[in-house]
Amino acid sequence: MLTDQNVGLFITGGIASYKMAELARLLIKQGANVRVVMSRSATEFITPMTLQILTKNEVLTDTFEERHPEFVQHVEMAQWADIAIVAPATANVIGKIANGIADEIVSTTLLAHDKPLIIAPAMNDRMLSNPATKRNLALLEEDGHTIIEPDTGFLAEGYEARGRLPELTRIVDVVIKRHVQKGLRQLLHGKKVVVTAGGTVERIDPVRYISNDSSGKMGYALARAAEWYGGDVHLISTKKSMVAPEGVTVEYVESAREMQEAVERQYDDAQFVVMAAAVSDYRVKNKADQKIKKSGDSSDLVIDLEENPDILAGLGAKKKHQTLIGFAAETENLIENAMSKIKRKNADWIIANDVSKDGSGFNVDTNEVTIISSDKSVYQLPEMTKLDAALSIWQTVLEAEDRS
Ligand SMILES: Cc1cc2nc3c(=O)[nH]c(=O)nc-3n(C[C@H](O)[C@H](O)[C@H](O)COP(=O)(O)O)c2cc1C
Repeated sequence: MLTDQNVGLFITGGIASYKMAELARLLIKQGANVRVVMSRSATEFITPMTLQILTKNEVLTDTFEERHPEFVQHVEMAQWADIAIVAPATANVIGKIANGIADEIVSTTLLAHDKPLIIAPAMNDRMLSNPATKRNLALLEEDGHTIIEPDTGFLAEGYEARGRLPELTRIVDVVIKRHVQKGLRQLLHGKKVVVTAGGTVERIDPVRYISNDSSGKMGYALARAAEWYGGDVHLISTKKSMVAPEGVTVEYVESAREMQEAVERQYDDAQFVVMAAAVSDYRVKNKADQKIKKSGDSSDLVIDLEENPDILAGLGAKKKHQTLIGFAAETENLIENAMSKIKRKNADWIIANDVSKDGSGFNVDTNEVTIISSDKSVYQLPEMTKLDAALSIWQTVLEAEDRS
């Protein structure tokens, strides 16, 4: 998602500096060109050599160590970076950037940088709650910079408190979001979007259940992309182990009936509802309250099933202002079946995918989808990552709605 983007990684002297080797690698994995600038304090925690080898670029550590007579290095670096990220950001550097101080390589370069700036503070909880730090962070936010909220967790001091550097994947997510958002019209701004994700779980007894192969990846990608389009996104998920997308509210459910209740609670003021979850058609009729034991005799155990509610059809029946987007996992007659599903469920769009194809559907990172509207427009997308597919789905739906 960061192909050919120039990312400037500015490391300052916090204990979390040691994690920056991995952050540089994750950014490079996303396709970014990464160059690093380090404060003198940061070099006490991790060596410039490590970052130089990982990024294959020289690391700047001193304003006056001018190695290239043809340009001034901090100005060249500031202009090269399409996005700058300060991680970990010390209380000290936060104060400097907020107040326009430029007295060493990091703050001097950042003062000459006029493109998106992301700041990931990490420090002792008392430093973070100091009124001066709070004031400086508020100033940075007012100036339009992105602050990544520190996590609460185990600090280097040996106790649990707020101030930890967030998970690196979360930092990468914010960088991707800042980059992708530059090219997106905020067509979902001020709109509530509800997305469901994952396969529902129908309990047999407290330790056993019936479910399906849905990984939840497509739903999460759609929620993430909707937030990038400016939406106020509520994700209803069965996947507690997946990392919640930045800026998205997540509600966890298990069964189809719980999912139905959760979606219906959000429905009245939702503008867009995307049913990407794989909802079990049947549930166990007489769920056991205790673990079912082996009976010891050789008779077969029979589990009776009863039909679950059809959530999409239920929403379609009481649709007012909402745009309803459903999914169809098909193995044959993709378009025909999707068209008929739109009619039966009173949906506005169906996203159809052929789950029998490699690289499409359940449990893979890619998808090949066909977007079908109630006015019978058909948009066939090639195989792409689920995140790219999610962006294309929103682009298609939102541009069509914008035209109508
Ligand atoms: C062991 C150690 C750990 C530190 N960890 C942090 C930290 O996590 N966050 C922070 O703001 N300062 C931390 N400091 C203090 C900074 O290193 C100090 O304020 C320094 O002047 C920051 O310089 P810089 O902003 O130019 O990198 C730490 C200092 C030491 C000695």
